[in-house]
Amino acid sequence: MIVNANVRMGDIELRTPLLTGSGTFGYGSEFEDLTDYSALGGIVTKSLSFEPRAGNPPPRICETSSGGIINSIGLANVGIEEFLGSKVNELPLDKTEVFLSVVGDSVEDFTKVVERLEDVERIAGYELNVSCPNVKRGGLSLGGDREAVTAIVREVRALTKRFISVKLTPHYTLIAPVAQAAVDAGADALTLINTLVGMEINAETRKPLLGNITGGYSGPPLKPVALAKVWQAAQVVDVPIWASGGIVNGIDAIEFLLTGATALQVGSVLFADPKAPTRILNEMIQYCERHNVDSFTDLIGGLRT
Ligand SMILES: Cc1cc2nc3c(=O)[nH]c(=O)nc-3n(C[C@H](O)[C@H](O)[C@H](O)COP(=O)(O)O)c2cc1C
Repeated sequence: MIVNANVRMGDIELRTPLLTGSGTFGYGSEFEDLTDYSALGGIVTKSLSFEPRAGNPPPRICETSSGGIINSIGLANVGIEEFLGSKVNELPLDKTEVFLSVVGDSVEDFTKVVERLEDVERIAGYELNVSCPNVKRGGLSLGGDREAVTAIVREVRALTKRFISVKLTPHYTLIAPVAQAAVDAGADALTLINTLVGMEINAETRKPLLGNITGGYSGPPLKPVALAKVWQAAQVVDVPIWASGGIVNGIDAIEFLLTGATALQVGSVLFADPKAPTRILNEMIQYCERHNVDSFTDLIGGLRT
């Protein structure tokens, strides 16, 4: 049986629902020889800010005793000038759909970056990172503030016809009102979720493992939190949801489709296994064959409650 792996989001058709999560796949070129792009519907690039950012002091990444990893990269990135000067030429535009992730500390930061990116041709869309927990200014407070999310999305919407997904933090008591606010302001999709704030220490040395002390917790332990947020948001919005959080195998991916996601981001798993998208896609297809499902699209929102 042939399983149809395509998923549609408005005018955009992804050849598979698998995307790479921002910050886990660089600008694409870094993984060129390691990953088979045919398994990917698209990539989301490292979050880009207007000014270059040096990021946090090392160590910036550690494993945890409860599984998963914590990173405190601190949104280190080259900034818009260098991106347009060099990185832009590395984007794998011939191989897959490219979504550019944008981050900022203010509404104006977001609009200044998107204004410049509008000249880059063949980009499928943007992911607005209003949620990164590592940034001391803005970051959480921006993502946690419904008015701020509304203002960012509304202003960016006014600048572009391109597809916009808004990436939300899990650190809300209720996700539904912020999800609704982002969609009301013009978001075409929502990405759920970004990392949880976490920390790990060494009791012997009494020192934190990360230079920044706290960071963003990701990997398998995030999955139940992400499933709940995707489910809660799917109850109130009609736009496609991009799931992010703890996907390491095909069954994880299927669980997110059933819960209401249309696209699925793989992140931390890429550090251990850059070929994970191919394996995950094959496992998803095997699930469909076992359950006589013709198309991934048929699984979206299929949870029996
Ligand atoms: C090292 C690292 C860097 C990340 N950088 C970004 C980033 O720049 N922008 C962003 O929106 N998310 C960033 N993330 C979050 C991931 O895109 C993803 O949402 C999160 O890791 C949860 O998915 P996972 O459990 O599959 O890793 C980063 C994650 C990791 C592990």
